[in-house]
Amino acid sequence: EPPLDELIASLTVDVPDHPEPGILFRDLTPVFADGDAFRRMVEGLAAPAASDPRAAAVAESAGRDFDVVVGVEARGFLLAAVVAFDRGVGVVPVRKAGKLPRERVVADYALEYGTATLELHADSIRAGSRVLVVDDVLATGGTLGAAIELVERLGGVVVAVSVVVELTALGGRERLAPHTVHALWAT
Ligand code: PRP
Ligand code: MG
Repeated sequence: EPPLDELIASLTVDVPDHPEPGILFRDLTPVFADGDAFRRMVEGLAAPAASDPRAAAVAESAGRDFDVVVGVEARGFLLAAVVAFDRGVGVVPVRKAGKLPRERVVADYALEYGTATLELHADSIRAGSRVLVVDDVLATGGTLGAAIELVERLGGVVVAVSVVVELTALGGRERLAPHTVHALWAT
């Protein structure tokens, strides 16, 4: 059985110049489509302390558990719900603009390409609740930074951020500091 980072790397398909010239798109859909890889990926995301190879990050997040999983539309939804199910907690969606029907908090953010808005129902996170935020890719950190901001505006405590792949050259981890980022594969 190959190490998880090698497995994810081997199944990921790089697509040059998508969705714009100069952007190298890391297509993770084949990783999700592989049953063994998907199971190991979900288990890894659900245990941000246990499976992180970096000793410092393990020490930092050791012993921290979470009460709820927040997933970021759209690709984060595929992961967050399964992580929550695996750990027996609930899942809460951070959605793109205009989708949530009730009172919400709103954050604008810059994406690697373009800009967008994320929203969270105002009553979806209890003050003091421990939150694991899950998405597929950490690139610039704009998306996850906005998701964290929304959770914190409701009084939630973000105990960790779990992603499948971290694109290290784009500085997302630094941008999200001091939050703990747990990445299954850093490239
Ligand atoms: C992608 C990806 C992450 C985000 C990472 O989402 O799924 O959520 O970009 O980029 P960042 O760290 O620079 O913010 P995107 O909004 O493109 O589309 P999706 O709805 O398919 O998840
Ligand atoms: Mg996304």
